[in-house]
Amino acid sequence: VRQLMKQRRPPGFPPGPSPIPVIGNIMSLATEPHVFLKKQSEIHGQIFSLDLGGILTVVLTGYDCIRECLYNQGDVFADRPSLPLFQKMTKMGGLLNCKYGKGWIEHRKLACNSFRYFGSGQRQFERKISEECMFFVDAIDEHKGKPFNPKHLVTNAVSNITNLIIFGQRFTYDDRNFQHMIEIFSENVELAVSGWALLYNAFPWIEYVPFGKHQKLFRNAAEVYDFLLEVINGFSQGRVPHAPRHYVDAYLDELEQNKGEPGSSFSQENLIYSVGELIIAGTETTTNTLRWAMLYMTLYPNIQERVHREIDSVLENGRAPTLEDKQKMPYVEAVLHEILRFCNIVPLGIFRATTQEAKVNGYTIPKGTMVITNLYSVHMDEKYWTDPGVFSPQRFLDSNGNFVKREAFLPFSMGKRCCLGEQLARMEMFLFFTTLLQRFHLQFPPGTIPSVTPKLGMTLQPQPYSICAVRRQQKS
Ligand code: HEM
Repeated sequence: VRQLMKQRRPPGFPPGPSPIPVIGNIMSLATEPHVFLKKQSEIHGQIFSLDLGGILTVVLTGYDCIRECLYNQGDVFADRPSLPLFQKMTKMGGLLNCKYGKGWIEHRKLACNSFRYFGSGQRQFERKISEECMFFVDAIDEHKGKPFNPKHLVTNAVSNITNLIIFGQRFTYDDRNFQHMIEIFSENVELAVSGWALLYNAFPWIEYVPFGKHQKLFRNAAEVYDFLLEVINGFSQGRVPHAPRHYVDAYLDELEQNKGEPGSSFSQENLIYSVGELIIAGTETTTNTLRWAMLYMTLYPNIQERVHREIDSVLENGRAPTLEDKQKMPYVEAVLHEILRFCNIVPLGIFRATTQEAKVNGYTIPKGTMVITNLYSVHMDEKYWTDPGVFSPQRFLDSNGNFVKREAFLPFSMGKRCCLGEQLARMEMFLFFTTLLQRFHLQFPPGTIPSVTPKLGMTLQPQPYSICAVRRQQKS
């Protein structure tokens, strides 16, 4: 009865599909929720509501609506929902799922400063990414053009860039412990939006149901926590106060400085949460983008060939790419943008919540309401894209072949909680992608064509596939 009472939509609340008693619209999120939700918006409007087992949720659809909320009313839509799952995982602390307030401001500022200070702001940093790119293509070379699944290599290589900023060091590709941690962490990104997780949010007492995927989620989270604690302790050895070598050192400086300060959000626990969030947010997304890029280059040999031609014409004598080359490679830029638009790595963004009562398009949304931003619907918005369902890098080029920015392009979301790793991700994607395609021609093993149907989760990734990376030229 309590659940049925909670389900009722308050006055002025956006309309939505009729809920089934008790579980509401949870089942409707079972398959391709981003596609389903876009279809629902055709019935109920750009802003509509769902009942996720008593948790009233607002779904924002299309570029105009998402911009109105996340950008024009930035402060109002800047919170994260206090869902039981997030409370259990990070106690609404850390960074990514932190409540909008002092804790978030302090952690976001520290992370942004560290990314600049130990990352893009350092002259050496680009060289370090290039070094990782070399380790990456050399490891691929070991397969000698035979079929292999690139997932683990891409994951390792990509996460090493974040590892440099957070720990000051990379992990080698045969580090089983690190690999295992990333694997179960990324499994949790998938499980976080599974039916069991949604049920747990609606009915937290299922914590005591001993079976089900939510139990796996809790076990994984505990294991990741222990691993990170150990690694953080290891990398903070030899720390000199006020001479930070990486994010962990910088965090410990803040922790010490704010000791005894009653309102301070810096804590050992939030250090572990924020490190975990930075690692997974940086790895899962960029890895999936590169894995989709490899898959699509193989599916579209003509596009791959044009990428090869551009790379060869700009990188004379097979020299390694640098970030300066980016502006000379509009086609590569167009391809990477089209991958981000078409493949929708984070299709529903990261759940938001309202910090106060909000008024949008004549509707009233109470404070604390969960908000889903359908970023997929932005990239498929007919008002801004012609034939959005077609994969075409060309749409990011003008008639002279110059790269053109598009407005309704939000893979990193927008507003206060927008992705803080965008700049880093762009550096990584460009350098990894060009280094890879400079050296290899990508093709499917004879007689196979992998599926492009994504595996569902918070992020979309391709189903595991095998690929042959055949060397294009002799190493000089
Ligand atoms: C948040 C996408 C790479 C760290 C987000 C959000 C999206 C996103 C959609 C949600 C923003 C919102 O709440 O509206 C991506 C994509 C990436 C990428 C597509 C790569 C292609 C990275 C990297 C890092 C990172 C490399 C860091 C190493 C974060 C963090 C947040 C975030 C910490 C939470 C921000 C906050 O709550 O204040 N990202 N991201 N991301 N991303 Fe990324």
